[in-house]
Amino acid sequence: MPVRQDTDVLVACQKGRALAARQGLLNDEQVIVVIAISEVANNIIRYAQCGEIVLSAVQCNGQSGIQVVARDDGPGIPDIAQALQDGYSSGGGLGLGLSGAKRLMDEFDIISEVGRGTVVTMAKWRSQV
Ligand SMILES: Nc1ncnc2c1ncn2[C@@H]1O[C@H](COP(=O)(O)OP(=O)(O)OP(=O)(O)O)[C@@H](O)[C@H]1O
Ligand SMILES: [Mg+2]
Repeated sequence: MPVRQDTDVLVACQKGRALAARQGLLNDEQVIVVIAISEVANNIIRYAQCGEIVLSAVQCNGQSGIQVVARDDGPGIPDIAQALQDGYSSGGGLGLGLSGAKRLMDEFDIISEVGRGTVVTMAKWRSQV
């Protein structure tokens, strides 16, 4: 789904929560998915102006989960390690968005090329009971 304004962030968060619930993630895990989607979607708006988020139900080795891919054709991230440091922000933010999402999600990967854009891929698995 496209991301270019605040309402798009809300819709992505709501759809992410609903899909996480359908995949059997617990309430706290659904909230984590919402926080992570909110962070990457707000980054798209702040740094790239527009982009897209793709949500998918995923299964791996008998585990169910949700995958979130956030992509944009914005300026890219010159130093991904720096961008993942707590407190680093090039845009006057708290610099906790990406690092927080990485901590909270089970899978987290960034591919970015300066001048081309950024793809953040994350997943959260249903806890084993
Ligand atoms: N989609 C993106 N395109 C380009 N640069 C990005 C993108 N997402 C993140 N960045 C870079 O990574 C840095 C860290 O992002 P992060 O979300 O952690 O912090 P922030 O957005 O600056 O502040 P906040 O805590 O409010 O999210 C940003 O300051 C920016 O330089
Ligand atoms: Mg951010």
